[in-house]
Amino acid sequence: MVSELSRPFSIGGLAIPNRVVLAPMAGITNSAYRRHLKRHGAGLVVTEMVSAYGLIYSNHRTEEYVDFAEEERPVAVQLFGDEPEVMGKAARLVLEREQRPDLLDLNLGCPVRKVTRGGAGCALGADVARAAAVAAAVVGAASPRGIPVTAKIRSGLTPEEPNAVDLARRLEDAGVAAVAMHPRAATQFYRGRADHELTARVVQAVSVPVIASGDVYSWEIARTILAESGATALMAARGALGNPWLIHELLEGRARERPALAVAVADLLELLARAREDLGPERATRWIRKHLTWYLQPYPVPGTIAHELRTCPDYQALVEALGRLPGSNGPQAV
Ligand SMILES: Cc1cc2nc3c(=O)[nH]c(=O)nc-3n(C[C@H](O)[C@H](O)[C@H](O)COP(=O)(O)O)c2cc1C
Repeated sequence: MVSELSRPFSIGGLAIPNRVVLAPMAGITNSAYRRHLKRHGAGLVVTEMVSAYGLIYSNHRTEEYVDFAEEERPVAVQLFGDEPEVMGKAARLVLEREQRPDLLDLNLGCPVRKVTRGGAGCALGADVARAAAVAAAVVGAASPRGIPVTAKIRSGLTPEEPNAVDLARRLEDAGVAAVAMHPRAATQFYRGRADHELTARVVQAVSVPVIASGDVYSWEIARTILAESGATALMAARGALGNPWLIHELLEGRARERPALAVAVADLLELLARAREDLGPERATRWIRKHLTWYLQPYPVPGTIAHELRTCPDYQALVEALGRLPGSNGPQAV
């Protein structure tokens, strides 16, 4: 069985093999996670948000955020910043690297204070004229290199004053080739229901593809969001955490039971092995901790064992402890 989400679409001439996009998530969507979700079928993956200033000042960690593996393609790099000149320069730096992403995405929705106090994220989204100028600067840097630019927006700063329709129109005029719409206001952070009626208004206001983000937890919900909004594609975010099978469910268009614990553990070990390739065993063991909670939460794993796993000090000990879980297949060679 396949769903309408399994059909290809295009963003500014770039072919995307299906309509399930892995949402950018800071602290989560590193290359290992993106490769993992790609293997589970995601049609497009996006990096964590990358600071334009960090790129310009050659911050070592920032450079790491921009790295990706060829198998991730098509891949988007998401930038955040405030000023058109700075964002245009950061875009050029990313696109002058030997390995160039397929898309650049602008973050106009991040509500975290560290980002907004500098005028970036949702603060930039609230200032429609400056957001359009930033988009025009980034498009100016990217279009001669044949790279489409997308933007990810929220409803607005507060639920009472949504500006998404106006913002999306101005971004389209500035040359943005697709808009990802997360219909929660900045003051809501990630709380409450995403209002996809507002996504529908954005869809009607622009002619570029709109990607709906917010509350994509199952095919059942996804189907409603698609019908309600008329969006071209969907983004999986929190719903995919610990549940990469969500991607299969969305592509197949049918509900799926969670797999047996042994399957979940095997998948987790694969993710851990991918993280180790990039981060080395120690960082990978720390990085995977929150995923342990997400993956194991639907299963009757005793609290003491879950705690032991989350506090496991070294890579091999973690692999062995996972292998000892009831119903698991024993220690895996990874
Ligand atoms: C931990 C976390 C980190 C996020 N980081 C980013 C980010 O870097 N850039 C961005 O545009 N959105 C970010 N988001 C927002 C998601 O991409 C998505 O729009 C949001 O979670 C709504 O979808 P959901 O309700 O399905 O989770 C983040 C969300 C979460 C939960």
